Amino acid sequence: MIETELGVARPSVYFEEQFKSLPKLENKTVAITGTTSGTGYVAAETFGRLGARVILLNRPSARADKTLHVLQSIGLPGSFYQVDCDLQSFESVRSSLPKIEALCEQGLDVLCNNAGVMALEDTATVDGFDIQMQTNHLSHFLLTKLVFPFLEKAESLRGEARIVNHSSMARLMVKRLESKYMEKRGGDLGGNGSLMLLFPGGRWIRYGQSKLANAAFTSCLHEKLKIRKSNIKAVVAHPGVADTDLQRTTVKDVGGRSWLNRSFLDMVFRVYIKMGQSKEDGALGIIKSMADPVVRSGEFIGPGMTMAAMKGPALSYPLEGYYDNVETRELLWTKSCEAIEDDFVI
Ligand SMILES: NC(=O)c1ccc[n+]([C@@H]2O[C@H](COP(=O)([O-])OP(=O)(O)OC[C@H]3O[C@@H](n4cnc5c(N)ncnc54)[C@H](OP(=O)(O)O)[C@@H]3O)[C@@H](O)[C@H]2O)c1
Repeated sequence: MIETELGVARPSVYFEEQFKSLPKLENKTVAITGTTSGTGYVAAETFGRLGARVILLNRPSARADKTLHVLQSIGLPGSFYQVDCDLQSFESVRSSLPKIEALCEQGLDVLCNNAGVMALEDTATVDGFDIQMQTNHLSHFLLTKLVFPFLEKAESLRGEARIVNHSSMARLMVKRLESKYMEKRGGDLGGNGSLMLLFPGGRWIRYGQSKLANAAFTSCLHEKLKIRKSNIKAVVAHPGVADTDLQRTTVKDVGGRSWLNRSFLDMVFRVYIKMGQSKEDGALGIIKSMADPVVRSGEFIGPGMTMAAMKGPALSYPLEGYYDNVETRELLWTKSCEAIEDDFVI
């Protein structure tokens, strides 16, 4: 178990053992979105332990400032740099580029698209897209396009680079990726139904679509990079159910002002988290994807591939056919390019 100043809620079972298999990363630069808590924080701290230069891509907040301060003051061999990047706004993502570029003179070895929000209200971002789809996928698509030349530079200097996306078991809540969720229809995408199981409400369908998009994006990248015979690897992970701030943020949003709603949901998530694992064990999927030398492009890494895979060591699985197919790849790429109003040519 890693003790952090941000606190540890429960013991880890697999973390230290899997950590031992990771190489030192002294000459590597990694960028991670959403490092103020949860799996992103654990990944940032872990790469600091391994000696990497870690770029923290967070929206500006006191939490982001505190995270930088904590990471810089706990005496790790790596170094940390904060770059403002609010995934709810394409303009904010674009304006993060000069600072990232300045930190990537020797290339970017790993981009980890980790940040995410879950089951939020049916609202639009400033760009008009669903708040979950833009935060969880579309802005990560734009970010990946922007930093791609730095990944290529790391690949040419050190032999490989990686793009890691963070999906979820919630990808299994939807049967196929639908174009409307990637269109400028935020606020008009199914309302605020919050039922999770059997007949999932709009909040969960939109979350499921965004997490399916993370997996489909990986499939697209893997295919395109393979055709180019690139040594940039595209990998996707999921954390099972991990004890992070994600559920607490959802409780606040779904419960709204009603004390009763919030208490009920809080109770449901507490039971759910008991069936899951610590945030350190949950972070192992992205950490292994980012650093383990045996990982290959096109792998899905996590504690299992079914809805029951709530905890366990991070293992490798193949991508699933229901999004790892030509039709879904074309849909994902076309709609994402339309959304960012730009091409992304690999
Ligand atoms: N925990 C689980 O059981 C679970 C299960 C399946 C998948 N996941 C996935 O794991 C990933 C990490 O989530 P977590 O569980 O670690 O949750 P978390 O503790 O809530 O962390 C989420 C991170 O995303 C950041 N974020 C949210 N909106 C952002 C924005 N607009 N711009 C930049 N950063 C933003 C948050 O930063 P702020 O401080 O700015 O809010 C925070 O650092 C997510 O993609 C999530 O879908 C988690």
